[in-house]
Amino acid sequence: MILCANFKANKTRQETQAYMAVVESFVSVNAIEDTVIVFPPVTALEHASRNVLIGVQNAYPAQNGAYTGEIALDQLEEFDIKTILIGHSERRHVLGETQAQIVEKFRYFADLGFVIVYCVGEPLDVRECGQEALNSYIDIQLEGIDLEYHDLILAYEPVWAIGTGLTPTIEQIATVHSNLRQKTSAALLYGGSVKVDNVAGIMSIDNVDGVLVGSASLSAHDFCEMIALAAELKNGV
Ligand code: 13P
Repeated sequence: MILCANFKANKTRQETQAYMAVVESFVSVNAIEDTVIVFPPVTALEHASRNVLIGVQNAYPAQNGAYTGEIALDQLEEFDIKTILIGHSERRHVLGETQAQIVEKFRYFADLGFVIVYCVGEPLDVRECGQEALNSYIDIQLEGIDLEYHDLILAYEPVWAIGTGLTPTIEQIATVHSNLRQKTSAALLYGGSVKVDNVAGIMSIDNVDGVLVGSASLSAHDFCEMIALAAELKNGV
């Protein structure tokens, strides 16, 4: 399984350090073999971890340059960051990133061999139009993306389930993931209101290879519990 924590604009550098100490120790003491990735805010990227991957939530597709408010490759290289989240719904819908910009970002970081967690997912009005509309919406979000990229992790995050406490049914997740499985052999994550009490059910769905967690991952205790549940599933406990 792959378990990702997306802090978004939460936690200071100090809070991230305290958090990482708890998660790293948990992973090490329990000999966790699952992949754990934490996406802290950019102020907290400077963290050398032995057993947890640190990724960046966003970066500009350039070595450096006149891109006010952004960070680029030079800044990522300084902290040895080789993992990036691209296409998150908040960047698409809150910050207005277009598919063309997202594709440019994807190609740039894929050429550099980054692990890319690429997000897709439909808003509620699309979901309400039925499965065909939903499939077409996701197809558009996959346009220009190399689905054979060797370090691709694809995350399905329905916009209406993010931060709302609402989650799709097991069947709805299974349907989308099975469609995605037809298109790629990449690991498939589900994200959107994943919590300690629903994570085991979600991770048991066919073609779900992990989870991308926002709010519930802000508690190191809860995130560790999710990591433990993933390990238990693998061991058939
Ligand atoms: P929540 O877990 O808060 O719904 O956020 C999901 C998400 O956007 C992770 O990237």
